[in-house]
Amino acid sequence: MDRPPSGPAGPARTSGATVTANLLAAAEPKTANLIEARDLHLSFGSTPALRGASLGVRKGEIVAVMGPSGSGKSTLLHCLAGILVAEAGEVWLGRQRLDTLSDERRSALRRDRFGFVFQSGQLVPELTAEENVALPLLLSGTRRGPAMTAARKWFPALGLDRLEGRRSGELSGGQAQRIALARGLVAGPQMLFADEPTGALDSVAGELVMNLLTAAAREHGTTVVIVTHDARVAAYADRKVIVRDGTVGTLTGTRP
Ligand SMILES: Nc1ncnc2c1ncn2[C@@H]1O[C@H](COP(=O)(O)OP(=O)(O)OP(=O)(O)O)[C@@H](O)[C@H]1O
Ligand SMILES: [Mg+2]
Repeated sequence: MDRPPSGPAGPARTSGATVTANLLAAAEPKTANLIEARDLHLSFGSTPALRGASLGVRKGEIVAVMGPSGSGKSTLLHCLAGILVAEAGEVWLGRQRLDTLSDERRSALRRDRFGFVFQSGQLVPELTAEENVALPLLLSGTRRGPAMTAARKWFPALGLDRLEGRRSGELSGGQAQRIALARGLVAGPQMLFADEPTGALDSVAGELVMNLLTAAAREHGTTVVIVTHDARVAAYADRKVIVRDGTVGTLTGTRP
C-alpha cells in the first residue's frame, strides 16, 4: 500500500508547486476516509481494551459498531473522537493526524466539528433541556437568542413538546436520551459519534430517533459512527462492523 519512493530519478527541475503537491500527497492518508483509526492499542491498567483496532469511515457514511459488552466499542469511539489517545496506533481526520494534536487542539476540534451522544452521564443537570440542546452552539460562540431558537426546533420532532424548561432530574431516561441526541445534532456537525443513543428507548421512540438521526445526517452530509447492540438500529447504517476483544471485523462472515 505504500507509495513507491519518488527517488532521485525525478525531473531535474522540480517546481516549488510540485514539491508542495508531493509533500501533501505523502502526508495524505492512503484512503479516502474522512476518519480512520489505524491499529489502535489501549489498555486500562492491566485490562486491554483495544488490541489492534482499525476502522475507516468515508464522508457521509453511517457505520454501526456492534459487538459484545466490554469488547472495546466505547473505547474505540472515544479514540476516534480524540477524547482518549491510544498508546499505539494513529487516528486521522482527513489529512490531519488527530492523536498527535495537543489537548487544546483536540478539544477545539471536538467543539467545532464533532457532535456526541454519550452512553451515560449526558445532560448538564443545572441547565434546562433547551439549554442543554443549545450548549454546543453557545460553546462555539453563537449568541443566546439564535442558539435557543435553533434548540427549540428539535423538541416537537422528538416528541418532547413542553419539556423545554425541565432539568434533567425531571426527565425520564428516554426523554433525556432524545435531548442528548438533539444536542449532538444541533450544530450540524461534520461527524457524529453516538454511543447507544437508543438504549433507553422503546422501539417506537428508537425508530423516531433513528429516522431523525439519519435524515439529519443525510441533510448535512454528516458522517456517523453509532455504537449499538440493537440490530434494528444497525439496519439504518450503510455498513456494520463488529468489535471483538479489542479488534474490528466486518459483520458478514463472522461467527454469531
Ligand atoms: N475507564 C476505564 N477504566 C478501566 N477499565 C476500563 C475503562 N473503560 C473501559 N474499561 C475496560 O475496557 C474494556 C472495553 O470497555 P468498553 O467500554 O470500550 O466496552 P464496550 O464494548 O463499550 O462495552 P459496553 O457494550 O458494555 O458499553 C472493558 O474490559 C472495560 O472494563
Ligand atoms: Mg460502551
